[in-house]
Amino acid sequence: MEPAAVTPDLSSDMTAVAVQTARKELDQLWSRGTEFLGTEYAILAGAMSWVSERNLVAAISNAGGFGVIACGAMTPELLEKEIAGTQSLTSKPFGVNLITMHPQLDDLVQVCLRAGVGHIVLAGGIPPSAAIRAAKDGGARVVAFSPALVLAKRLIRMGVDALVIEGAEAGGHVGPVSLTVLAQEILPHVTDVPVFVAGGIARGDAIVGFLEQGASGAQLGTRFAAAAESIAHPRFKEAFVRAAARDAMTSVQLDPRFPVIPVRGLVNEGSRSFLVHQAETLRRFQSEELTKEEAQLEIEHFWAGALRRAVIDGDVENGSVMAGQSVGMVKSIQPVKDIIEELVGQAVGALVKRGARRGE
Ligand SMILES: Cc1cc2nc3c(=O)[nH]c(=O)nc-3n(C[C@H](O)[C@H](O)[C@H](O)COP(=O)(O)O)c2cc1C
Repeated sequence: MEPAAVTPDLSSDMTAVAVQTARKELDQLWSRGTEFLGTEYAILAGAMSWVSERNLVAAISNAGGFGVIACGAMTPELLEKEIAGTQSLTSKPFGVNLITMHPQLDDLVQVCLRAGVGHIVLAGGIPPSAAIRAAKDGGARVVAFSPALVLAKRLIRMGVDALVIEGAEAGGHVGPVSLTVLAQEILPHVTDVPVFVAGGIARGDAIVGFLEQGASGAQLGTRFAAAAESIAHPRFKEAFVRAAARDAMTSVQLDPRFPVIPVRGLVNEGSRSFLVHQAETLRRFQSEELTKEEAQLEIEHFWAGALRRAVIDGDVENGSVMAGQSVGMVKSIQPVKDIIEELVGQAVGALVKRGARRGE
């Protein structure tokens, strides 16, 4: 097991001066991200339903990163409490992730503004212009997800202040394109706003690579879900420690007439039963026992409550154990501070090695 590297990953000939220079270089490389977030490090923890609540969010912000509350299906009253709870645990900046199809989206935006939340992340599709405007008029900065260059440009025209580009390697709901490709497609062409990269990132040297390509920072989910401060059930975290990258697969769609939104998670009894459930639903549709709409609903309802079952109840066999391919690099359950220091140490280490190659 690799120990938590709280100091840079250095070989003996790397001097303290080189480390200091590399640290300054890192501060410079992600300065646009740290200025935008108001943090020491341009490392965000992506919002994760059931996982990203006050304890994890505050721990991340207190450690110099940027925590984001996952509002999910919360009511405005519950969100208000969660924000207040987080503010009682940290005085550092954090954000709130709102799902655009939430029926009370406008009220949720107002809750964030009233509580003085500085950054609102709008996830789950193109955000409505009215929500972007309301958030900005209220003094918050708006972050949105862009799965393609044309959408990135449209979102910037709509007024978003920063973008996250998330590759298919990520945990949870994913698009079809890897971060390797998205980064090349988007980073050279988007300079108006900071762009944060997400999906498959577990090491600081990888973060440096994306910063050098033009990213302003990185968003991680999987590594933080397994953190000591994460309220996820011990069995959920242990499943992460055991898993290899190839165990985090996207959900499979059996028939194109019945679309399944791809969700990346650990393969288990639940994901195997989902295939059987789809086959059985198809059979009932073909024998006219179910209409097309009923069959689609049957398929969609299969996973209802499944993430909660895995995260909170610890049912990692039948629940939805959302995880990215970076899960293979989760080797132990670490405090958030150690994870962040390890990432920064690896980033500094990578820059020291580059400096050494250049003869600095
Ligand atoms: C358990 C889990 C739950 C997630 N839930 C959400 C969510 O509710 N909303 C969202 O925008 N992203 C969600 N994500 C995606 C993360 O915010 C983040 O972008 C992603 O995990 C980054 O990729 P990584 O897992 O490779 O680090 C989830 C990810 C995980 C692992």
